[in-house]
Amino acid sequence: MITKPTERTYKNGELEVLWQPAKCIHSKICWNGLEEVFNPNRRPWVDLNAADQETIMKQVDQCPSGALSYSFKGQSPKASTGAISIQVLPNGPLLINGNCTVNMPDGSAQEQEGSTALCRCGASANKPFCDGQHKKIGFEG
Ligand code: SF4
Ligand code: FES
Repeated sequence: MITKPTERTYKNGELEVLWQPAKCIHSKICWNGLEEVFNPNRRPWVDLNAADQETIMKQVDQCPSGALSYSFKGQSPKASTGAISIQVLPNGPLLINGNCTVNMPDGSAQEQEGSTALCRCGASANKPFCDGQHKKIGFEG
């Protein structure tokens, strides 16, 4: 049985970064942008002591799927205000920007904060969410 990585929280002083692997679409943006902090070839793969808080926050803001988010100790993650927008990523998922509720086929509901990537290629093992498989199968569209 394949064990999926679980959510992890990393800390730098008051700054806490949450990584939700189920939301990661393996865009490599975090690691190409700030490899000293986000390096999947290292364990743990996130080292929040390798850069200052502002640099880390700027990089986390660029995570397209919302897999990375930050908050300050004791506070909830920043809430999104206003309408959501939906972006069709070339050869990739549908990216919903803004908090939303995903109503699942079994009747359950999942509250999503920040950004959510929904599979458009059909190959995700975590449907309806994108898990980065679109790259492996060479999805075009
Ligand atoms: S989706 Fe976010 S966490 Fe995953 S590789 Fe891209 S930037 Fe990093
Ligand atoms: S669009 Fe990413 S796994 Fe399908």
